[in-house]
Amino acid sequence: MPTPELADIAINLVPAGKGILAADESLGTIQKRFDRIDVASTEETRQAYREMLFTTPNLEQHISGVILFDETIRQATIDGTPFTEMLSQKGIISGIKVDKGAKSMAGFPGERITEGLDGLRERLAEYRELGARFAKWRAVITIGEGIPSMACINANAFALARYAALCQEAGLVPIVEPEVLMDGNHDIERCAEVSESTWVSLFSALYQHRVMLEGLLLKTNMVLPGEGCEKQASVDEIAEATVRSLRRTVPPDMPGIVFLSGGQSPIDATERLNAMNVMGDHPWGLSFSYGRALQQPALDAWKGEASNVSAAQKALYHRAKCNGAARDGKYSVEMEKRVP
Ligand code: 13P
Repeated sequence: MPTPELADIAINLVPAGKGILAADESLGTIQKRFDRIDVASTEETRQAYREMLFTTPNLEQHISGVILFDETIRQATIDGTPFTEMLSQKGIISGIKVDKGAKSMAGFPGERITEGLDGLRERLAEYRELGARFAKWRAVITIGEGIPSMACINANAFALARYAALCQEAGLVPIVEPEVLMDGNHDIERCAEVSESTWVSLFSALYQHRVMLEGLLLKTNMVLPGEGCEKQASVDEIAEATVRSLRRTVPPDMPGIVFLSGGQSPIDATERLNAMNVMGDHPWGLSFSYGRALQQPALDAWKGEASNVSAAQKALYHRAKCNGAARDGKYSVEMEKRVP
């Protein structure tokens, strides 16, 4: 039976004014991010980049938790303080990505199933020892011609539920992350339909697997038109569609829903989150767990140079502050003019 401690951790990840920094890029993904700024991806450069992010002055004012990758949770600052300890000293909770990636699903061309359940119980115990208090598992749902299939949606929901049950047994709050991708030409209605099917399947699986919703967070996509759709949507249309679909399908007992940015521009991601919180009280806290939308300006400012650390940290702090305000519906584009 999950302990009250799990519910406390979940609540502490989504307080007013704060959200989560996703810095758990796998080796392949961080390589892609570094390629853009012409920096080689080595253990040293990855350590330097993550140290720059995590030591950002006053980050804890707007960031409640950071999601780490397996390599990162074992790394330390250059003066030898483990990242988890340094974050904890700032009051930031460490999390860990535990899935092993989305692989092609046999028999279902174009669809993917996330792997990583084998040996997960042992890995979770080790991560807890290393300081993690929450975990993340990402499933990917692709919209296209004749897809997604219910088989893909249900197989991913089953894996997410098994993962979540193991996390709660190990004393870690599971973040369950089904991401309906924004790749494609589909319209916002199609995204709403697929997102709702995905969330219904997920919460049914979580219920069957006896996962305690109070000790869980949902991380998911906003309801958006596909990137290639001719009919794009306004900030308010996206906020309304997302909240409507969530209210139809997600139980109110969970403390929070944190959005991924999924390829939205940093400012779009902030504006849309803000618009949802301006709509008023929701059954769950609505916050962020952005990777690219928080890191991109910092990465561009850093460029792998020690002399750019301070400028990069200012860029990260600024996005964290804007998103912290959006968490409470208090963001305005005016804030973008006050970049430190
Ligand atoms: P993005 O915000 O870049 O989509 O990353 C969030 C994340 O953690 C995806 O798993």
